[in-house]
Amino acid sequence: MLEVSNISTFYGQIQVLWDICFKISDGEILALIGANGAGKTTLLNTISGVLRPNSGTITFLGQRIDGLAPHAIVELGISHIPEGRKLFSDMSVQENLEMGAYIDRAWKHRRETLEKVFEFFPRLKERAGQLARTLSGGEQQMLAMGRGLMSRPKLCIIDEPSNGLAPKLVQEVFQIIKSLREQGITILLIEQNVRQTLEVADRACVLENGRMALEGCCEDLLKSDHVRKAYLGL
Ligand SMILES: Nc1ncnc2c1ncn2[C@@H]1O[C@H](COP(=O)(O)OP(=O)(O)OP(=O)(O)O)[C@@H](O)[C@H]1O
Ligand SMILES: [Mg+2]
Repeated sequence: MLEVSNISTFYGQIQVLWDICFKISDGEILALIGANGAGKTTLLNTISGVLRPNSGTITFLGQRIDGLAPHAIVELGISHIPEGRKLFSDMSVQENLEMGAYIDRAWKHRRETLEKVFEFFPRLKERAGQLARTLSGGEQQMLAMGRGLMSRPKLCIIDEPSNGLAPKLVQEVFQIIKSLREQGITILLIEQNVRQTLEVADRACVLENGRMALEGCCEDLLKSDHVRKAYLGL
């Protein structure tokens, strides 16, 4: 579904990603793990068109997307649920959700998609008229995910959805990610909760200092000495 080949990304003169290559197949959950500052968010922003790579190519469903504007990439079926939620804080829950449908392909179906999102997150339906900034942390995360679904994505790229949430809500986030996959959505997931992530994902890539250090199926990575020491504290 997605193929990232030899991507290098800079901020000005400073190179943050070196020669990144990986693929995601249809229906898969691929986890991207790595320490703070490894370049995970930079990689997601490069895929969603917020940043342009200096070299390399990104192909989605057979089409080159590197160099396209972010809205064109959403239109093709990639939804980016950003780190820190980035909600429209003075807009209501429902207005935030509608903003997620602001592309041609999704706009005409927005009512039907909204119903689905409300089924998925009944809490958002109860609070449809409430301002986003007055939601609790967990509710804001649900809203960010719901808004991401409003564009009817084929691939969701999700940056640290459990950040700042209480343990019970972290469990809920992982449940939601599993159910998204059951609905046929492919997922690229960044998470600091490495053990749980490796339990829900099919494969994982480990990013270290802007380079892809390891890639494999989660079962193997959970057994790897390097992953156990560096990311699981064992
Ligand atoms: N806008 C920017 N300008 C300059 N440098 C940046 C910018 N954004 C990120 N960086 C640098 O790029 C590197 C990678 O940052 P990035 O946010 O991609 O890391 P990350 O793996 O997502 O980390 P975290 O787990 O803390 O979210 C860091 O050294 C960071 O300081
Ligand atoms: Mg980040």
